[in-house]
Amino acid sequence: MASDPSAAPDPLTVGRYTASSVMVSAADLKARVQALGEEITADYAGREPLLVGVLKGAFMFMSDLARAIDLPVEFDFMAVSSYGHSTRSSGVVRIVKDLDLDLAGRDVILVEDIIDSGLTLNYLRRNLLARNPASLEVCALLVRENHKVDESILRYEGYRVPSDFLVGYGLDVDEKFRNLPDIRIVDVAPEEPADDPTVASSPA
Ligand code: IMP
Ligand code: MG
Repeated sequence: MASDPSAAPDPLTVGRYTASSVMVSAADLKARVQALGEEITADYAGREPLLVGVLKGAFMFMSDLARAIDLPVEFDFMAVSSYGHSTRSSGVVRIVKDLDLDLAGRDVILVEDIIDSGLTLNYLRRNLLARNPASLEVCALLVRENHKVDESILRYEGYRVPSDFLVGYGLDVDEKFRNLPDIRIVDVAPEEPADDPTVASSPA
């Protein structure tokens, strides 16, 4: 019934997925992203960095980060596929959308939502370095505590996070929850057995 408010979709539970405890609040994100922007502004004074965002997860972070950088910046985006529709890495990185701009001689900042294993980052760094930028640094909002990349390549980072699967602020599970203003742990309910019509449902 459309008029029944209790039937309104819950933005925190979609299908088997529930975005539960908040890992990083919207207020904390705002302050941290502002600080990262200020750091980049100071480090790149006199230059015009080119922000390269990795779609789709980094779009919200990059949008706020760009506004926190007080320099002329340019944007480009690329899309890679590494996770398919599950919460586990397929181990395969594929460029789904390539950059429009030429990186040669540019001061490139690669903007990522989360460095998990680091597989995607390692692939992207090699790929972008082959295009001869003047410099290449990485700015990741979230970095797993047990990532497998060389610490020295993580120039700018927002937060170190444990291994829970996270959603919100651009991050998704199966395309859900990207629009949450905070970052939350997602719980996945076990697959329900097919409805058995011989079992009467108990009143709630
Ligand atoms: P990596 O190649 O294992 O480092 O995986 C990096 C990519 O996996 C990220 O850019 C995300 O798109 C995705 N990813 C890894 N962990 C999470 C998570 O907790 N939530 C949402 N996406 C994730
Ligand atoms: Mg990503």
